[in-house]
Amino acid sequence: MRVQLIGFGNIGQGLARVLLEKEKYLEKRHGLKLRVVSISDISGTVVDEEGVDLKRALEVVEREKKIIGYPGEEMSGLEAIKTVDAEVVIEVTPSNIKTGEPGLSHMLAAMKRGKHVVTSNKGPLALEFKKLKETAEKKGVAFRFEASVGGAMPLVNLATEMLSGDEIYAIEGILNGTTNYILSRMTKEESPLELVLREAQELGIAETDPSYDIDGVDTASKLVILANAIMGVDASYRDVKIQGIRKITPEAIKLAKEDGYVIKLVGEVKNSHLEVAPRLVPVNHPLNVDGVLNVALLRADIAGDITIVGKGAGARETNSAILSDVISIWKNGACL
Ligand SMILES: NC(=O)c1ccc[n+]([C@@H]2O[C@H](COP(=O)([O-])OP(=O)(O)OC[C@H]3O[C@@H](n4cnc5c(N)ncnc54)[C@H](OP(=O)(O)O)[C@@H]3O)[C@@H](O)[C@H]2O)c1
Repeated sequence: MRVQLIGFGNIGQGLARVLLEKEKYLEKRHGLKLRVVSISDISGTVVDEEGVDLKRALEVVEREKKIIGYPGEEMSGLEAIKTVDAEVVIEVTPSNIKTGEPGLSHMLAAMKRGKHVVTSNKGPLALEFKKLKETAEKKGVAFRFEASVGGAMPLVNLATEMLSGDEIYAIEGILNGTTNYILSRMTKEESPLELVLREAQELGIAETDPSYDIDGVDTASKLVILANAIMGVDASYRDVKIQGIRKITPEAIKLAKEDGYVIKLVGEVKNSHLEVAPRLVPVNHPLNVDGVLNVALLRADIAGDITIVGKGAGARETNSAILSDVISIWKNGACL
């Protein structure tokens, strides 16, 4: 199966490492021989019909900070999607919640050329889920995005494949590890947000500009994807009522603790209403997970409540989801 990789940062490089590690396993267990025929980043594209040497690509990007040093061509990712023959495009460029670009154009171009799309990129899905899904259906290609929500947690595929006879009527979740880490530490240490945030930034858990996480933007993007994919709600990011955690004080956390609660940033979708806000969660509730962990509680009409806890980010963990989507495409016989 020929694969194109668009984006070669944390996730793209993580995928290359996992593919090198799993090459024999994939062939033995699934009969899958995967050939990465092109890799693109912002600097250009390397193309090799026989399969790009992933070890060399990783060495080049480590040394040069760009893939074009491979040596490659000054071909954009979009051009590579349009011109290089492949069955699957793995889109892992940065998430943009304002325009969805460049991911949105990459995904649509791939689908229009009959290529299956696997992605971890939330932005295009949070803005244009319906358009992407409809384009994929029209073109008869797979559109898989397990990695875009909850990193390693198999949420979307669990709900749409394993629970396909159930109606999921509500979802609640802690979908952002950075804010969960901050709130967990504030709870343990009774420290102010600014202090914990600064330390999280030093540890690389929070970004230099933390607004995406602490203002609830990231949680809202993921909630939109779950609402569309699992509950069939036609919603976009603009439909989410969002409140972040900036106003949470150590005093509020202390008061909650005294009454047996913790404060968590929870995303909830119910009756087509999508909301992200800090909420009081009882200490013994399944949503009370610690540190950078993510959790999602699916309320299903036959199965009842199902809770999944796991690592919501990380180059290696997120690639578990990307790989499982690629294998599903292969197993569904879409790329023989
Ligand atoms: N990191 C995680 O744990 C995680 C978890 C779940 C989901 N995600 C999502 O996965 C995606 C990738 O994350 P990441 O951490 O790998 O980001 P990243 O480290 O910033 O890597 C993004 C890559 O995309 C490249 N790129 C940017 N614009 C491009 C364009 N127009 N054409 C081709 N390549 C382009 C970048 O090239 P340059 O470096 O040369 O600019 C870089 O190689 C994001 O959408 C993110 O939200 C990440």
